[in-house]
Amino acid sequence: MTITNLPESLIPTLPGRYYTDPDVFRLEQERIFEAMWFCVARSSELPKPGAFRTVDVGRESVLVTRSRGGGIRAYLNVCRHRGAKLCTEPAGEVGRAFQCPYHAWTYDLEGKLIAAPNLTKMPDVGRTEYGLAAVHVTEWLGYVWVCLAEEAPSFDETVIADVVGRLGEVEALERYDVDSLEVGRRIVYDVKANWKLIIENFMECYHCATIHPELTEVLPEFADGYAAQYYVGHGAEFGDEIKGFTIDGSEGVARIPTISEDQDRRYYAITVRPQVFINLVPDHVIFHRMYPVSEERTIVECDWLYRKDVVASGTDVSRSVELFDRVNRQDFDACERCQPAMSSRLYEQGGVLVPSEHHIGEFHHWVESRIGPVQ
Ligand code: FES
Ligand code: FE
Repeated sequence: MTITNLPESLIPTLPGRYYTDPDVFRLEQERIFEAMWFCVARSSELPKPGAFRTVDVGRESVLVTRSRGGGIRAYLNVCRHRGAKLCTEPAGEVGRAFQCPYHAWTYDLEGKLIAAPNLTKMPDVGRTEYGLAAVHVTEWLGYVWVCLAEEAPSFDETVIADVVGRLGEVEALERYDVDSLEVGRRIVYDVKANWKLIIENFMECYHCATIHPELTEVLPEFADGYAAQYYVGHGAEFGDEIKGFTIDGSEGVARIPTISEDQDRRYYAITVRPQVFINLVPDHVIFHRMYPVSEERTIVECDWLYRKDVVASGTDVSRSVELFDRVNRQDFDACERCQPAMSSRLYEQGGVLVPSEHHIGEFHHWVESRIGPVQ
């Protein structure tokens, strides 16, 4: 039940329990995170065959690695024998194979069962059938995306469609050549808030004037709280005195050469449901992935991506990192301030959205349509 009889300017949010109830979170894990394309790693984190990373996607642990042929592979991180978790480290490297630490069943990088104690005495055990269970995997923008659904939804109709919905065309993003960029800095945030609060926050700028003094200095149009940045194709323009997207508006680093003139001196923000934010500025890209841990905790991994030559030359990028790091902390503080209040009796029926936040209502409808009726 949401609030009814609202004045025309206001529309309801989701009720508080959508942010506090483990049953709702479980439905989201099953019907959103395990059902959609989910971004798990930067491809460069897997530089050679056998390098791996493990990531929780919904209720599953997923093992992402590079095969001998150089392709990316993703498997459920579960031993076929008695179900031990195969890799317990968040990242690492094996030589040619993954060996289960329990009874030593051993799988090659293609997931095939290649060795196990007494395996030769069990010729009827299919090496592929009893190999690791593969999940869908693809690479885009230099990131690895997995999908745990039996049949993965079309990448074009989900991930790309969200980009097109925001920028008007995917080419506008492609001009930033994101896969050729390198991670100049990564910061991981442990946010004590439900993942939806983080998305909702990212989707509106009503809070910008209150909590983002440095950002509104760089992007003066954010100060009026009207989310001009969310008109399709619009990027917020830098202030006249601003030289770069940095903490003090000073010069940034070398511009990404392939962007168009009208993308210069502008900031674009894209939400890719369910867990990616992409921020575009002329000289770098800020790429967030959310890893929802529970109904009240979300790990956010944020990469600052720059041209290869900028990273290789050791150019100081700290002023640009500091701007969005500060924005992140301001945003996550706000989300953490809301989380405990989601279980307040006042929020039982939820809160309200002002007109410049009404598009968040679409996000709520989307969540409801994915998870179905909540008892
Ligand atoms: Fe992995 Fe037995 S559980 S080898
Ligand atoms: Fe913000």
